[in-house]
Amino acid sequence: MKKVKKGFWSEGIRVTRENDPAARSALEIILTYPGLKALAAHRFSHWLWQHDLKLLARMHSQFWRFLTQIEIHPGAELAFGIFIDHGSGLVIGETAVVETEVKLYHGVTLGGTGKDVGKRHPTVRKGALISAHAQLLGPIEIGENAKVGASAVVVTDVPAYVTVVGIPAKVVRINGKKDEKEILTLEEKREASYHSSHL
Ligand SMILES: CC(C)(COP(=O)(O)OP(=O)(O)OC[C@H]1O[C@@H](n2cnc3c(N)ncnc32)[C@H](O)[C@@H]1OP(=O)(O)O)[C@@H](O)C(=O)NCCC(=O)NCCS
Repeated sequence: MKKVKKGFWSEGIRVTRENDPAARSALEIILTYPGLKALAAHRFSHWLWQHDLKLLARMHSQFWRFLTQIEIHPGAELAFGIFIDHGSGLVIGETAVVETEVKLYHGVTLGGTGKDVGKRHPTVRKGALISAHAQLLGPIEIGENAKVGASAVVVTDVPAYVTVVGIPAKVVRINGKKDEKEILTLEEKREASYHSSHL
């Protein structure tokens, strides 16, 4: 079977339709979804950044921040097929990586702690859900299809298919199940890895 090459716009329209029942047509999505506009603008600012036109890249991303209320650093690596809902107040830092099918809501920060150098922003793996106002700080990894609850503050890796909530974010579900024993074991591991990475 012939493999169909997926483009930025087709992927953007597809994920918007999948995630927002209010989206009625491709034209409406292109014209009225700030998340898709911000992601499209980021493609150009990222190109400028990669071609060492750093100041122009920053100016371009700041211009689109003004229009969309979404601030994406030109250095961030973003896949096609990310869904940003609402978006206002969303901040994505320079060394963040976001894979396809990830859902990001308004007020989310993929930020640094101020203590790390080099890779200092989160990596969000395929299909993860980052709820409104969640703050993800440092070079942590959010695993495939993991869920981060609204307003959580995440400073430690989140394994795939796990839900975390609260401040600091703790595991509340593994594969959608509330197995207290398994959750406790996983939390102990997360806590140990947090402390060893901050020695
Ligand atoms: C975390 C979330 C994604 C649900 O994930 P889930 O794996 O289905 O988890 P559940 O709904 O089963 O909740 C698991 C537990 O966390 C609690 N919980 C859920 N969300 C929470 C939050 N944001 N803060 C604190 N606790 C939360 C639940 O009460 C439940 O507690 P329990 O173990 O005592 O029963 C969801 O609750 C959430 O935060 N959604 C927000 C999405 C969003 O941003 N919407 C904005 C649209 S405009």
